[in-house]
Amino acid sequence: MLSRYFKPSVLKDIAAKTGTPVYVYSKAVFLRQIASYKKAFRALDPLFCYAMKANSNGALCALAAGEGFGADVVSGGELYRALRAGFEPGRIIFSGVGKTQEELEYALRSGILFVNAESFEEVRALERAAAKLKLRAPFSLRINPDVDPHTHRFIATGKLGSKFGVSFEEAAGIYYYAAGSAHLNPVGAQFHIGSQVHSAGPYAMAAGRLAAFILKMASRGVNLKYADVGGGWGVKEGGEMADLAPLARAIAGVFQGTGLKVILEPGRSVAAPAGVLLTRVLYQKRGGTKNFIIVDAAMNDLVRPALYGARHPVALLGAAPGPLKKYDIVGPVCESGDFLAKGVALSGPRSGALLAIYSAGAYGFSMSSQYNSRPRAAEALITGAAAWRLVRRRETRADLVRAEIL
Ligand code: LLP
Repeated sequence: MLSRYFKPSVLKDIAAKTGTPVYVYSKAVFLRQIASYKKAFRALDPLFCYAMKANSNGALCALAAGEGFGADVVSGGELYRALRAGFEPGRIIFSGVGKTQEELEYALRSGILFVNAESFEEVRALERAAAKLKLRAPFSLRINPDVDPHTHRFIATGKLGSKFGVSFEEAAGIYYYAAGSAHLNPVGAQFHIGSQVHSAGPYAMAAGRLAAFILKMASRGVNLKYADVGGGWGVKEGGEMADLAPLARAIAGVFQGTGLKVILEPGRSVAAPAGVLLTRVLYQKRGGTKNFIIVDAAMNDLVRPALYGARHPVALLGAAPGPLKKYDIVGPVCESGDFLAKGVALSGPRSGALLAIYSAGAYGFSMSSQYNSRPRAAEALITGAAAWRLVRRRETRADLVRAEIL
């Protein structure tokens, strides 16, 4: 049960001192997730590059870096955060379909492990950046393995027709081009089939295709060292990660003994269980046949329910036992899509009560915005039985307009 890591007494203390809404992370759970990955994959000894987009708070990233994890970044901003949090440059990879020339140069100057390129034009831009800096750019190609991950259409990426990656045929041509360039160094091949994937089958299929392709390239003189299988492993409805054993078996089954260094890019499965969004009940009301609880967190704080129909477990702190009623939990933002949970059975939620929204450590704060001019929430990290500290202060109203020019 995740709730034992988020004790009501500690959550109440945090809410009392920092106010709500606040994201609360558990160091113990975050480290436990990292340990689970290391244990499940120990035979393969891969490089784990934490997908920072899931949660790029510096305190969490520093924990991952301290455990020997590298980072998967998708923008110059994330690279900046990764370096600041202490990830070794030689363990950072840079993914994404639209890196700018400036971002490519920043990555090369920083000495990252490789740039994960997604088109021939991007590889040409990388070549120009490397020529300017007088070096050879290590890169991999994101290849679209044409595998259906059976997940939400917004987070499925591995089928042909998605904007991500290049086909195997196109990849081969790009590697041949790179082999003849003084400024390009092809070192790896990557896929990422999607996110919130719960079965190992699609990974086994994509990994098999990738391995065969890497072997074929080797026979044609292009020797790649890294096989990167992306991230995407799912988190179950209760908030815990799906069992890693089948995934580890599938990946090891393909790559064990090949001499290739396997890379994984987990994000959600590391961060999601480690966070809750703590919010306070403002009001209750009835609307037609529905009961609403209006809380002080909203879609600008946690957009996943509105955007993907995601269901996060919800718990009322110190709820008095009593008859259960069904509620929709909604925020103050002026949109009908502003809900955090629907049809949740709760007993006696009173104004002022605290509500914990679980499995919010990934794609919670990192996707938050200031919509409706709501300052972004604070973030706190539980570090011991009753110990916690603030890892990002609540934004102020002045923060809302800080970059504005009148
Ligand atoms: N690597 C690449 C290239 C990715 O695009 C992603 C996620 C990951 C790794 C990490 O995937 P994860 O292990 O976190 O599933 N905002 C959505 C998820 C979007 C995922 C985008 N790419 C959500 O809240 O469900």
